[in-house]
Amino acid sequence: MRRKVTVVGAGNVGATAAQEIARRDYADVVLVDIVEGLPQGKALDMNEAGPVLGYEATVVGTNGYEETAGSDVVVITSGRPRAPGMSRDDLVTTNQAIVRTVTEAAVAASPGAIVVVVTNPLDAMCHVAKSVSGFPKERVFGMAGILDTARFRTFIAWETGMSDRDVQAVVLGGHGDQMVPVVSATTVGGVPLTKLTTPERISEMVERTRKGGGEVVNLLGTSAWYAPGAAVAEMVTSIMLDQKRLLPCTALLEGEYGIDGLYMGVPVVLGSGGIERVVELELTGDEQAELGRSADAVREVVAVLGG
Ligand code: LAC
Repeated sequence: MRRKVTVVGAGNVGATAAQEIARRDYADVVLVDIVEGLPQGKALDMNEAGPVLGYEATVVGTNGYEETAGSDVVVITSGRPRAPGMSRDDLVTTNQAIVRTVTEAAVAASPGAIVVVVTNPLDAMCHVAKSVSGFPKERVFGMAGILDTARFRTFIAWETGMSDRDVQAVVLGGHGDQMVPVVSATTVGGVPLTKLTTPERISEMVERTRKGGGEVVNLLGTSAWYAPGAAVAEMVTSIMLDQKRLLPCTALLEGEYGIDGLYMGVPVVLGSGGIERVVELELTGDEQAELGRSADAVREVVAVLGG
């Protein structure tokens, strides 16, 4: 039997993640949604793409959790997406109730799973999934840093005229407008970014990265899904294949980076055990201060969560 990955939420992000995972062909995928016909229809369509794209993974669409039983990884994307003018944090109360319900059902069916949270406001929703599941922090964490870093890498590739494959960067902190693109750790092919463009252009790219989600919302009227779906698949792949990728993910910090009891984006080693290590990076004084401000912003949203 193939191993199993469940994606809860068959909206744009969930469905894109499901197909990206199916294409990698190491697991069957179960797509869950409360809307009747939606996960079944998208799953059928994805199965029918298999012969063309060359994957054999089976995608199952369902409105219940029976088919999800024994999943290795559960990805939670359910919730309202952002509309224009809305911050990620505006969604907190609505999405807290949704994340609570789906996490409860998903972990009851897969008590050994690793849970990857995607629903916004991301950092706060990680707290919800952690408390509802009762799982150890190694097995409950969120996707944001790979997406935010991918945006920063894209802008740097365009600015320098160099391949995005060679841009190495990391974005830390909460998944909000206070996130911290770490310029001191950003290189293209090992050459520091600061040698390749001006401080003004770097500031503009940092600012565009911080507002990157909103830029897409303003164009489309709803949240992004291609880059978020691809970022989820990269995390799931590192877990399922025990790749030990070092990737920025939203992890429960207990003293790392001087932050305690808060989910925030930091570099972690992802393997079959989930988060196997949090890696601490040397930050400049300014970057450390920005990280503190980002932590304050996350704490404010977490404080809005009802009990
Ligand atoms: C974004 C939303 C999904 O950053 O948070 O695009």
